[in-house]
Amino acid sequence: MYQPSEMAGFMKAMYAYNLQLKSQIVAGETPNSLPLDLVKLHSAEMSKGKSRTQNWQSFVNVFIESQEAVVDTLSNSEIKERYNAAISNCLNCHKTECTGPIPKIKKLLIQ
Ligand code: HEC
Repeated sequence: MYQPSEMAGFMKAMYAYNLQLKSQIVAGETPNSLPLDLVKLHSAEMSKGKSRTQNWQSFVNVFIESQEAVVDTLSNSEIKERYNAAISNCLNCHKTECTGPIPKIKKLLIQ
């Protein structure tokens, strides 16, 4: 049976979380909670054959900061812009590390 890695499971949780953020933002709400422990990106076990490459290392902290910025209620920039910036950072890492989910992640962007 297919057993997703700890990292794959965490990625799925990030996907579900951002889908929820998207619907809240589209509905005009201002989400302010981040229930995921993003530090897990540094520790979660990855699938066989996957590892924390140099590309991974160069994108991971930029991504974490941008995801945290979405729920920063003191920010001066528009929430939609901050949200799309976080999703773009998902895509930046995926371009080199794991291309399969890219079409699915693109659907998270708010047009
Ligand atoms: C720093 C690089 C990086 C960032 C940032 C990143 N990912 Fe990933 N993602 C990966 C890697 C590598 C895998 C494969 C993990 C594994 O198989 O262990 C993956 C796997 C996935 C998967 C597939 C999980 C499965 O079912 O196997 C989805 C969906 C996903 N990511 C969505 C996202 C979303 C949404 C974001 C942003 C909120 C994001 N990712 C941010 C590198 C990244």
